[in-house]
Amino acid sequence: MTASREQFGSRIGFILAAAGSAVGIGNLVGFPVNAAKNGGGAFLLVYALFIVLFCLPVMLAEISAGRFSRRSPLGTYQALSSGSKFWSIGGWLALITPYMVGVFYSVISLWILAYLVMTVTGDLATLANPDFFGTFINSGSVFIYLGVLAVMVISILQGGVKDGIERAAKTMMPALFLMLIGMVIFVLTQDNAMAGVRFYLIPDLSKINMQVINGAMGQAFFSLSLGMGILITYGSYMDRKASIASSSKLVALTDTGVAFTAGLMILPAIFSFNPDVNPDELSDSSVALIFTYLPKIFLALEGTMGYTGASFVASIFFLLVFFAALTSLVSIIEVPVAGVMDSWNASRKQALIKIGVTMIVVAAACTASFGMVDSLTNFVEYGGGSKSLFDLVYDTFYDTILPLNGFLICMLVSFRWKKANLDKELEIGDPNYKGSLLERYVNISLETFIPLILLFVFVDTVLLKFFGYSLI
Ligand code: PFF
Repeated sequence: MTASREQFGSRIGFILAAAGSAVGIGNLVGFPVNAAKNGGGAFLLVYALFIVLFCLPVMLAEISAGRFSRRSPLGTYQALSSGSKFWSIGGWLALITPYMVGVFYSVISLWILAYLVMTVTGDLATLANPDFFGTFINSGSVFIYLGVLAVMVISILQGGVKDGIERAAKTMMPALFLMLIGMVIFVLTQDNAMAGVRFYLIPDLSKINMQVINGAMGQAFFSLSLGMGILITYGSYMDRKASIASSSKLVALTDTGVAFTAGLMILPAIFSFNPDVNPDELSDSSVALIFTYLPKIFLALEGTMGYTGASFVASIFFLLVFFAALTSLVSIIEVPVAGVMDSWNASRKQALIKIGVTMIVVAAACTASFGMVDSLTNFVEYGGGSKSLFDLVYDTFYDTILPLNGFLICMLVSFRWKKANLDKELEIGDPNYKGSLLERYVNISLETFIPLILLFVFVDTVLLKFFGYSLI
């Protein structure tokens, strides 16, 4: 398998694919609102520090481990631990996590696809009706959109690493950047836009507390697609001539740049729609913001631009978010696909059929857990209430397992694979890395405070989510 492993065709291909994975719904909507509510410029600073000091070393560890082993996460854990049974637990987790995150991300992505189709076909007014979202997610049409989305993802992945993943990223990412910049320019020319910019950027140190710091760290970790096995897998397709450190820095910069720029689109849009808005009262959930609040803002443009103009702006927005979601979805589903290909010697097509079919079934069950099927809607009891299948998947795999996976990869790389091997891998294609400050920092941080913090966050999240008790 190793000799014939697929590869990205170019350095920029790897960077765009990894940035495509990192730039997702979280960047475009979650980050701006989080930042605005939690101290504006002060939050941005805390976030940026986490990206550089905390996330970058984990990113280097994941990519190096993958490039060294040239295997999926399961194989990587086995290769780096010389086949230890204990460490293969980490490999399994790094295979199951993306599978389940992929399931729940598919549900949100299919809603975005539906909103995109509806704005393009002139249904913006329907979307802006506050009751529409609740009705839509329980209608039969969601399964059609799930099918269409599955066909899109499967056809990209069937193309393979270079002609599928890389080509899709090379097409969608530049289009995403252009649309984002276009939207920012457009929004900034609207009345009251500057009030939003001020609210977004002016630092408010009084809002920074332990919860906010924890939130910034979680957002940064999630935003770079860490702990999901994605970067191990993409690393395994990376050319050994390229510098891992400089590619990673570019990916982190792109991801942070897009998140920051998205704030210059979302906050001014909210303020220009309602100059008296109190952003503290905006919903924490990106879902509520995208699917109920923003359509109202787009429809309000009708007064100045007409219905067609308003629908056009809304279509660009949903296309932008859809591209971000699709490149992330492709990256996460590639992880279990690569796992099946590597560990069971399957062809890409066989792996895609196995993963695709089972994921569609689980995603359909999650889709039906918003009220359509009672046993799925009231699936389990924990944390003081009844939870749906979707809630369970979200709480377990999205919020809880990621820091555990991050902890395991730090421990594997630092203590089992050993730092000297990590250094060696990072020096390949990067003569300046040897002896650099970054090298020393990565070595020390990966064996001390980064895994400790990740373990703490994992324990705290389990306590909070499932037992309603927090350590901080
Ligand atoms: N960085 C992505 C985001 O911000 O949305 C994280 C991600 C989530 C990647 C889900 C892939 C995925 F399927």
